[in-house]
Amino acid sequence: MAFFTNAIASHLRKPGGGFTGRFVKFMLKIKNQGMEIAAVANSNIEPNDVVLELGFGPGLGLKDAAEKVKNGEGKVYGIDFSPAMMAEAMNLLEAEVASGKVQLTLGDVADLPYRDNSIDKVYHSNCYYFWEDRETVLKGILRVLKPNGKMITALNKVSLNLAEQRGFLREEQYNPDQYMEQLKANNFTDVIIKDYRVEELDYTCQVITATKQN
Ligand SMILES: C[S@@+](CC[C@H](N)C(=O)[O-])C[C@H]1O[C@@H](n2cnc3c(N)ncnc32)[C@H](O)[C@@H]1O
Repeated sequence: MAFFTNAIASHLRKPGGGFTGRFVKFMLKIKNQGMEIAAVANSNIEPNDVVLELGFGPGLGLKDAAEKVKNGEGKVYGIDFSPAMMAEAMNLLEAEVASGKVQLTLGDVADLPYRDNSIDKVYHSNCYYFWEDRETVLKGILRVLKPNGKMITALNKVSLNLAEQRGFLREEQYNPDQYMEQLKANNFTDVIIKDYRVEELDYTCQVITATKQN
């Protein structure tokens, strides 16, 4: 049992191949669609916005974000360190990548390969609890965001509590209050959490938003 728990926990952090990897990929697509929709909806993406998704997984949120910038000068960037997720997202976003609207990078969110003050919105869904060096990631987000740029994240407290009970996560990894305190300590302002309902899926999750000071 411990072996299975550890395998799931490992694939949740970095989805890979094999039976457990395929199972986690399948679950991400079904279970996390609502969070991806919530993260993109709360990013209020305008056609000329430059947007970045951290830990894009299968790429559902990127697809949604690309749709919002397709008639403008905007662009969508994504970074994820799982080769399996990169392949999955590349497949889903073949046309958007070919047209240059979407650019995907296989890399670690702790080392963002983007210019300073270049991005309007950075969003992530179901992710921050897997970052080993969260402090470094937050400093990187601040660096790449334009002044007054927004950081948006979606999470599901009920699922996270269940994941903790099943041994996939520890409370101190995902505690949203601690994450919000860390955002404030890193000079993000207007740090708020709210419930968000995704009507089309009959699904409710939580969204944290924060702003980079001018
Ligand atoms: C639980 S999955 C969530 C995927 C997707 N956002 C969703 O909601 O379905 C976490 C994702 O973050 C990626 N990830 C975790 N830590 C990362 C890191 N340090 N750098 C880059 N990607 C990371 C994983 O590869 C995986 O695709």
